[in-house]
Amino acid sequence: MFFQKDNKTFEINMDNIPQHIAIIMDGNGRWAKKRALPRKAGHKAGAETLEKIIGHCSKLGVKHLTVYAFSTENWKRSQEEVDAIMDLLRQYLNVYFKRFLKDNIRLRVIGDRSRLAQDIQESIMENENRTKDKDGLCVHIALNYGGRDELCRAVKKAAKDVETGNLKAEEITEDVIASYLDTADVPDPELVIRTSGEERISNFLLWQVAYSEFYFTDALWPDFTDKMLEEAIYDYQNRERRFGGR
Ligand code: IPE
Ligand code: IPE
Ligand code: MG
Repeated sequence: MFFQKDNKTFEINMDNIPQHIAIIMDGNGRWAKKRALPRKAGHKAGAETLEKIIGHCSKLGVKHLTVYAFSTENWKRSQEEVDAIMDLLRQYLNVYFKRFLKDNIRLRVIGDRSRLAQDIQESIMENENRTKDKDGLCVHIALNYGGRDELCRAVKKAAKDVETGNLKAEEITEDVIASYLDTADVPDPELVIRTSGEERISNFLLWQVAYSEFYFTDALWPDFTDKMLEEAIYDYQNRERRFGGR
């Protein structure tokens, strides 16, 4: 597949598409501010971008897309903004996501959903159940997600299993720890993209990004395009991954 940039043509190697792409969708607020719109409008525009990017990942043959939608720290925002994000989420689960059904897309949610409103938890379960046999792109939405919170919950679960005799301390390996995480059974992301010019991890997938390639772009999330996704994949394909070897 080819794409154009600065009057040059680049080719993406379709045999080396990352299996798992993770995205920190940042910059919705700044996008709105630039247009003198309320922050809520930025989140709405961001939700539309997500719909496009899901479609494009599916077309490119990506197997897993994990998107950071709401962090464990995002509760610190104004009640008005949190409510607006939760309302968009309701819409996403009830309306947008139905459109993906025909595209063989599966939905999963990572993060501590117990703090989300009851109706949202039910919609999540309904969507997860309805799409559980789809074998195309799997979209993992990180909601009330924090990498440290995920590790904390995983350690608690493992400790309970030790208490009940289902796990022995000396049996704990990296694979065992991974199996207690929200992402159990999902390969680690090869590529992590963060938009909006910020170059930090903000508590996203701390365990899973040990050897991921990072791609930062100044584009604000609502302005992120299919072509920018292709550029990120092209950049990834032209890196040398060493995993500590040489
Ligand atoms: C990302 O956009 C969306 C969420 C964190 C929910 P922001 O809302 O963080 O946008 P900026 O960083 O303020 O521009
Ligand atoms: C990270 O963005 C969380 C999401 C994109 C959901 P933030 O905007 O919350 O992160 P910081 O505050 O810039 O680190
Ligand atoms: Mg932000």
